[in-house]
Amino acid sequence: MLSSSLKMSSTLSSDVMEEEEEEEKEEEESFNPTEVKMSQIVMSCHCNHRQELSVGQLLKWMDSAACLSAERHAASPCVTASMDDIHIEHTIKAGQVVNIRAKVNRAFNTSMEVGIQVSCEDLFSDRIWRICHAYATFVTQRTSSGEKVTLRPIVPHTQKELIEYSIAAERRRVRMLHDDIIKDLLYSASVQQGDMSAGSDAVAAEKTKVESVELVLPPHANHQVNTFGGQIMAWMVNVATIAASRLCQAHPTLRTIDMFTFRGPSQVGDRLLLRAIVNNAFKNSMEVGVRAEAHQKEGPNRHINSAFMTFEVLDGNRKLCTLPRIRPEPLEGERRFQESIARKKIRLDRKYIISCEQSEVPLSVPWDPRNQVYLSYNNVSALKMLAAKNNWRLSTERDEVRLYTLEKKSMLSFRVEAEVDIPADRAFSLLADLKNRTSWDTHYKKCELIHRVDEDDFLYRVVTPSVHRGTMGSPTSANQGGGILQDFILLASKRKPCGSGDPYVIALRSVTLPTHPPFEEFNRGEVLCAGFTILEAENNMSLISYYNQASPEVLPYISTDIAGLSSSFYHTFCSCSHYLTRNKLQSDSEEKVNEPNSPSSLSKALNSTKL
Ligand code: COA
Ligand code: ADP
Repeated sequence: MLSSSLKMSSTLSSDVMEEEEEEEKEEEESFNPTEVKMSQIVMSCHCNHRQELSVGQLLKWMDSAACLSAERHAASPCVTASMDDIHIEHTIKAGQVVNIRAKVNRAFNTSMEVGIQVSCEDLFSDRIWRICHAYATFVTQRTSSGEKVTLRPIVPHTQKELIEYSIAAERRRVRMLHDDIIKDLLYSASVQQGDMSAGSDAVAAEKTKVESVELVLPPHANHQVNTFGGQIMAWMVNVATIAASRLCQAHPTLRTIDMFTFRGPSQVGDRLLLRAIVNNAFKNSMEVGVRAEAHQKEGPNRHINSAFMTFEVLDGNRKLCTLPRIRPEPLEGERRFQESIARKKIRLDRKYIISCEQSEVPLSVPWDPRNQVYLSYNNVSALKMLAAKNNWRLSTERDEVRLYTLEKKSMLSFRVEAEVDIPADRAFSLLADLKNRTSWDTHYKKCELIHRVDEDDFLYRVVTPSVHRGTMGSPTSANQGGGILQDFILLASKRKPCGSGDPYVIALRSVTLPTHPPFEEFNRGEVLCAGFTILEAENNMSLISYYNQASPEVLPYISTDIAGLSSSFYHTFCSCSHYLTRNKLQSDSEEKVNEPNSPSSLSKALNSTKL
């Protein structure tokens, strides 16, 4: 038994490796006209005192490569609007080579997302390793007559490009909400109060304060005399590093930078005023905040950017050093001290939920308002990633209802698909309300809405028959009148298309809720990734696909179908299809029910991000 499972896992891992190698090969062979490659040898003039590449210099190179890629697609001048969170995995030494690859993942109206990959190459050992991966948004500059320049769409060719293209819409949503999310979280009552009663050895925050001015000269600007975003980021990193060094009295290492947002442009001749201070010191890391303002010789200060950076200090053995505590300045400093604790929690959630491979995220993540946006992102992007896979195999077809399967990383997924005679937007509104599912899915015994998070995200409790074995060793199912039920706590995230050719998406995943612990009389089931995509088809029809990354709870329902022994997938899908066609027209009473009721500031912002 053990040897057979070992054999199976080695076959699976070689399958996965082959698949990954195929993806790499496909990427290498495919020509992407927006791709820009930049290689730089790291010289002493690019380094800090430890002969390591300064992060500011790295950001300048990343911004230039990304800008060239954006301008190649736009065929017109572009500026950096934002750079998402950056997590720097390794330092780079003098003599090593930095390789940067940038390409446009998706163009929206006047903005586009550029994906940037940075790796380091050691010329003597032939080794290459990953340094960071970032996403930047570039916006086309208006013409001299003030008109906006609209971008042509990107056409993804490889599977990787298709996945990046599809998820770029979800990343854009998170990006546009970033400021509102942070504000909502910082001012919500849930912010934990940190202990500010520092001991006598604590360092006064004023000691770390930095104020520095830069004059923007032609070498700092692009061909349109606008200051390079990369240059501003480098100046910001410079003052932040000084502030961090003042606290630890050593050379700190920059690990993460929260999103950079360029609020307004700056030009040659501007004076840039950069201010930084350590907001808080935790055991092994500190948060430094930086604010950049621009002004002409005379005239008011314009807020250009604010960023928060996390530094660590490593000893000679590259072990983390313990940092002194900080005594914040009264009022503003105390506020920033508390807010930095909330930001640390957000950062951890974000890193954990967004950066993990889907299969590494535990089945049920605890839901709370602070990680809601990242959980929804994870929910939608997991379904989009599953849908974009190009190795789905047709398993069974009956009356044009098709059952596909996909095996990857010891996970079996299935997809049931057919065209239905209903407009896509109507199918979306019917399927997105999970409560309707009890009308067509006999497995759904009960479905209650627990919480309406915002316009697009909902928490439900769903009750289904249990497939777990009863005490007599036979599978218990409601069909047999077996009595044991299971329940699921599901986050349902619905998304309208973000541009033509995009599907409507309804993504489902399990979460845990302290208010809804598992009950004794129910088995608590878990869903890693499931949901619908709905594409507009010809003649006002819809192509409806249902996906499920089969967990042990659903596997028994579908395995007999996959083996060709039954066709319950067909009956369930037909039942869904009949339900949809019966309710094709919206009734007057529904129209009233669907009218939005006074949305919150965040849900208003959510609506405004839709195209
Ligand atoms: N992150 C990503 N994209 C953003 C954004 C942000 N923080 N803020 C705006 N955008 C996008 C919008 O989504 C929109 O994209 P779309 O046309 O594809 O839908 C586009 O930018 C224009 O948005 P709009 O609301 O018309 O413009 P705005 O008045 O908010 O200006 C900038 C946006 C980015 C042009 C403006 O803030 C700016 O000029 N910033 C400085 C840019 C710069 O000079 N950078 C270099 C360093 S100073
Ligand atoms: P906030 O004060 O809400 O954090 P700001 O955009 O005003 O937002 O500032 C961002 C960060 O820049 C602050 O958290 C702080 O670390 C730093 N900063 C702001 N003003 C100063 C200042 N006068 N001196 C030193 N650092 C400052």
